[in-house]
Amino acid sequence: MLQRRPEETILIALDVASLEQAKAVVQAVGERAIGYKVGSELFTRCGPAAVGFLKEQDKEVFLDLKFHDIPNTVAGAVAAAAELGVKMLNVHASGGMEMMRAAARAAGESESRPRVLAVTVLTSIDQTILSEEVGCKRALEEQVLNLAKLASAAGLDGVVASPKEITIIRENLGPDFLIVTPGIRPAWAAKGDQKRVMTPAEALRAGADYIVIGRPITASPNPRDALERIIAEISESNS
Ligand code: C5P
Repeated sequence: MLQRRPEETILIALDVASLEQAKAVVQAVGERAIGYKVGSELFTRCGPAAVGFLKEQDKEVFLDLKFHDIPNTVAGAVAAAAELGVKMLNVHASGGMEMMRAAARAAGESESRPRVLAVTVLTSIDQTILSEEVGCKRALEEQVLNLAKLASAAGLDGVVASPKEITIIRENLGPDFLIVTPGIRPAWAAKGDQKRVMTPAEALRAGADYIVIGRPITASPNPRDALERIIAEISESNS
């Protein structure tokens, strides 16, 4: 398999509140950036224009809207996202097999054929919340793995997984199942509200296909330089 360039593994989280801010960030980061993640805040404020802008700039888009609804509605939402030309999008695995199959089918029938990822258990949910509020009897790690397997069986392309889940998912789901990992911090960056983090190189070495990095790049006084440092860090660890 051809080795991917480091910049191809990076998705920059564009967590801003207006199209103007999004444009300023993309401009400041510059040409080396290949992919951006658009989440609920930017999409709810600006809608398809945010995706349209990124596509005009020749950027790839991961639309992180975590669809979770009845199968028919999710299929419609996936078809709509595919029409925008996004490269990746996601759904909640807890929506179940039929919902995920509907998502996979809608993506497969579209012209742009985006990759569909599953969100397993949100990292804001700990064992206590899972047991006492969600009412799930399984251990958290087992539930993550169980939902990842369900996603794979439903025909989805991969999962969004935290750094500590990469190894177990890679071991159990094989080499072709995509793993996209947020919670990434270069050694030199502030952790912010992220608790369990890995560096970009550590996450890729553990088996992630893509790493999601936001503030270490977007909130840097020099976003272009921050991205270059991350790319260099990954290259060095590969050599
Ligand atoms: O700025 P930062 O690098 O922390 O951004 C990480 C991005 O990944 C944010 O968009 C955040 O919502 C998302 N994310 C996360 N942790 C998860 C799932 C998603 O940080 N477990």
